[in-house]
Amino acid sequence: MNILILGSGGREHALAWTVAQSPRCEKLYCAPGNGGTAAAYENVALDPMDFKAVGRFCAAQKMDMLIVGPEAPLVGGIADYFAQEEALRHIAVMGPGQTAAQLEGSKRYAKEFMAENGIPTARYRAFEQGQEADALAFLGELAPPYVLKADGLAGGKGVLILPDRAAAEEEVSAMLSGKFGKASHTLVIEEFLAGREFSVFALTDGQHYRLLPAAVDYKRRGEGDTGLNTGGMGALSPVPFMSEALWARVETEIVKPTLAGLQRRELDYRGFLFFGLMEVNGAPYVIEYNVRLGDPEAEVVLPRLEEDLLEACQQAWEGKLPPGPFVEKEDEAATVVAVMEGYPGSYPKGKAITGLSDVTEKDTLLFQAGTRQEADGKTYTAGGRVLALTGLGKTREAALEICYAGARKVCFEGIDYRRDIGGEWRKK
Ligand code: AMP
Ligand code: GLY
Repeated sequence: MNILILGSGGREHALAWTVAQSPRCEKLYCAPGNGGTAAAYENVALDPMDFKAVGRFCAAQKMDMLIVGPEAPLVGGIADYFAQEEALRHIAVMGPGQTAAQLEGSKRYAKEFMAENGIPTARYRAFEQGQEADALAFLGELAPPYVLKADGLAGGKGVLILPDRAAAEEEVSAMLSGKFGKASHTLVIEEFLAGREFSVFALTDGQHYRLLPAAVDYKRRGEGDTGLNTGGMGALSPVPFMSEALWARVETEIVKPTLAGLQRRELDYRGFLFFGLMEVNGAPYVIEYNVRLGDPEAEVVLPRLEEDLLEACQQAWEGKLPPGPFVEKEDEAATVVAVMEGYPGSYPKGKAITGLSDVTEKDTLLFQAGTRQEADGKTYTAGGRVLALTGLGKTREAALEICYAGARKVCFEGIDYRRDIGGEWRKK
């Protein structure tokens, strides 16, 4: 099979690394990819939002499958575009159509979907511009802290958690008047859930599903879960606090009703579905849906698969996904993300990275993210999250040792990473 992976992060490098191991994989391209995928596979300079250009490349290179890494092309309708074009229709697109992608693209859509299907989630109301008075009054029905969410995609910055009523009132007004542009012209206000976050992933064909290994993500920039929210600074799989009972509740209370809801709405969904969950006193609640794999969760989830992901993707495309979860490796995985100083704010780019070849796959898996390979053959930083270093080991402790051993080998001016990934679970 010829496969194109869209995107340029650590998740896409991990997807490429996984797919490349399949005996079905003949030619593998990444668009636009990063320094890591340039070195190991083949990058194509395509903008994932330029569907026509992506389509032309796929037709010309006889692509069999398109795996969409990030959400934006899905929310923009890339799967529908491929389905509508005669020359592209046969290509297996991993990712839902535009309507189902609203599960991630619109918080309001996701909340209404959950309400309709009895899926546990925080109590909420949605407000439009012009309904500011109602929104302010709804704050009075909730206890602090207050959770405000811009309806649309806001680059991971659209969720605000505010400790007191005055700050929440101020933000309600700011968001409705366009603090996040059109994304916050609709506002969701919801109850704060106090618990433990974790993520569950399914590959689905819209009727059947297979669960992948679950993960926890370290979202905050600073050690001890302090500082700004980021795309993710590290991750673990399996989830240290996951029990059989919690798995069973996730499946019956969340995954199955979500699939039933997709069918009720007759939505075409072939691809990955990510459940962002909160465990509150043993009960799972949905914080958000994403219509793709997570980053850096993919960097711990995919290396733990014991099965051929490409074969499963083909089965999902054909609507023939067999039942049962993916077989997981017993090995545990941990990843730490090396970032550029300044991230998630502004940061410099173009710093030379050294030590990459000292990280050998036998020890640590190196998934590149914000990097670029230049004509001189060297690799330079090109983003805030630069590298993800994954350890696989017999225990979580061993996995953490391996990922940090990898992190110590790489260097660039301004490198930083959290030293406390998995820390709360480590022997003191
Ligand atoms: P998001 O940008 O949608 O990933 O949300 C950012 C983070 O906000 C989530 O990962 C949670 O940590 C937090 N969050 C969102 N909704 C709630 C909620 N209802 N209660 C508590 N925390 C929340
Ligand atoms: N790490 C969270 C995400 O991919 O959305």
